[in-house]
Amino acid sequence: MSEQAPRARERELRKARIRRRRLIVVGGLVGVFITVLTGIVVATATPHRQASAKPGTTPTPPVASTLPVASTPPAPTTPTAPPEVAFDRSTHSLDDTTSIWVVVNKTRPLNPLMFVPSDLVDVPVPHTWAPQLRKEASDAVVTMFSAATSEAQLTLASNSAYRSYSAQQSVYTGDDTTTARPGFSEHQTGLAIDIGAKSGICSLSVCFAQTKEGIWLRDNAWKYGFILRYPADKTLITGYSYEPWHFRYVGVALSTQMHNTATETLEEFFELPAAPDYR
Ligand code: DAL
Ligand code: ZN
Repeated sequence: MSEQAPRARERELRKARIRRRRLIVVGGLVGVFITVLTGIVVATATPHRQASAKPGTTPTPPVASTLPVASTPPAPTTPTAPPEVAFDRSTHSLDDTTSIWVVVNKTRPLNPLMFVPSDLVDVPVPHTWAPQLRKEASDAVVTMFSAATSEAQLTLASNSAYRSYSAQQSVYTGDDTTTARPGFSEHQTGLAIDIGAKSGICSLSVCFAQTKEGIWLRDNAWKYGFILRYPADKTLITGYSYEPWHFRYVGVALSTQMHNTATETLEEFFELPAAPDYR
């Protein structure tokens, strides 16, 4: 055998070792490359919500890719009305003759019987008989008469407002269904007014209900704190026949509540006994 042969074999073996090492290095690099590439793909596919979570906060769980099928449609998001505040029926006295809620009828006389309000003022409106009322009621009358003119081009007039005990003695006819006995009239409280058209048509008559003025008052007086005190068909409760001209000031809170609850008389609203006659 020549000396050349073992050397050549040794060279071949060395080359083979180098090839193996290269293979290992290249294989390792390919592995690293694949790992890095997989990481990038996974990071890109992760929802942004998670990526945008602030440090120190709990990340929001990713949204499910498939939504469950809802069995019922979601409730409409209409705004809910605030809970109604109950009307306080004890805000003012029903018995104190100075109260704007005082209930005067054939079983509930003024107290004292010859009561005179302390805050009477002249009411600056057209009239047939110079009217006086308590200040609060007078202001409301002025506002209401102005509204009738500006809204409906109507001119209202006062036919009678405050009446003293002695004035009521003169007015009382003896007919207990149309006039109150002295000491029993709402007019003596300084909170009641008989209203007509300035023209005088149907004044203090049932036909006033069919006039433009009577209709406007029927529909709008509540906005100014007045109620039509002696409605039709309530004689057995109020004791008086229909008076579409007689308005009683009770304040806007009560007149609005009565309007909203379609309650016509004070007796019904406050659940007081009917007063068809004197005791
Ligand atoms: N006409 C009403 C009832 C009064 O006289 O007071
Ligand atoms: Zn009257």
